[in-house]
Amino acid sequence: MRKKIIAGNWKMNKTVLEAIDFVGEIHDDIDTSEVDVVICPTFLALSEIITLLEDYQSDIKLGAQNMFYEEKGAYTGEISPNMLYDLGVEYVIIGHSERRQYFGETDEIVNKKVLKAIQVGLKPIMCVGESLAQREAGDTFDLVRNQVIEGLKKVGKDQVQEVIIAYEPIWAIGTGKTATSEQAEEVCKYIREALAEMYGSAVANTMRIQYGGSVTKDNAKELFNMPNIDGALVGGASLKEDFVSIVNYNE
Ligand code: PGA
Repeated sequence: MRKKIIAGNWKMNKTVLEAIDFVGEIHDDIDTSEVDVVICPTFLALSEIITLLEDYQSDIKLGAQNMFYEEKGAYTGEISPNMLYDLGVEYVIIGHSERRQYFGETDEIVNKKVLKAIQVGLKPIMCVGESLAQREAGDTFDLVRNQVIEGLKKVGKDQVQEVIIAYEPIWAIGTGKTATSEQAEEVCKYIREALAEMYGSAVANTMRIQYGGSVTKDNAKELFNMPNIDGALVGGASLKEDFVSIVNYNE
């Protein structure tokens, strides 16, 4: 049985003080007994939030929203994976569609980041997903499969189980247009089949595949009840109390 993993991607929202206040408000109500819960604030808030979660003795895990693929050097403005790891960060979102779209991240860059994250000890949440035009052109499956194959290039069988795949159709992100649970399941199932071809079904069956794109407290349970959806990457709804209801979807 795969443990669900629900991650909040705060994107470029909340100042450090706002982040501290928000974690203070929700931590007590978040039930981590059956799901892995991850929050991904901005880089600036990571340090404070780690200390806070320790003080609260909370099992909420921390993730970063991005990282660079080198460990150090003359890369002005970048943050390295080992800096994150040293801080106590456990997860890192890699290849979010906003990074692909606005910051020119290619599958090749995504792959470099995934490899480096694993090497340093971080667990990548690797995002894949199609645009509306790609879906309408019937390219969803080929495109997503290709993103999975390219993103995981040279990732070995013994390492890949640490990778979480987030299927995030771009047309569903921040639009209020969630994929139906059937649409989401169809692609997550297809991703698992691609993983099985690459790593064998025993490995593929242990890997966690999230859905992301306008997940709310009202649609979370239905999505999570699908056999191949192992949780969610939540954007907008993770900034509010609603995140508690999403995480505690079974209560
Ligand atoms: P959303 O974002 O939940 O606001 O649609 C999801 C994401 O981008 O990870």
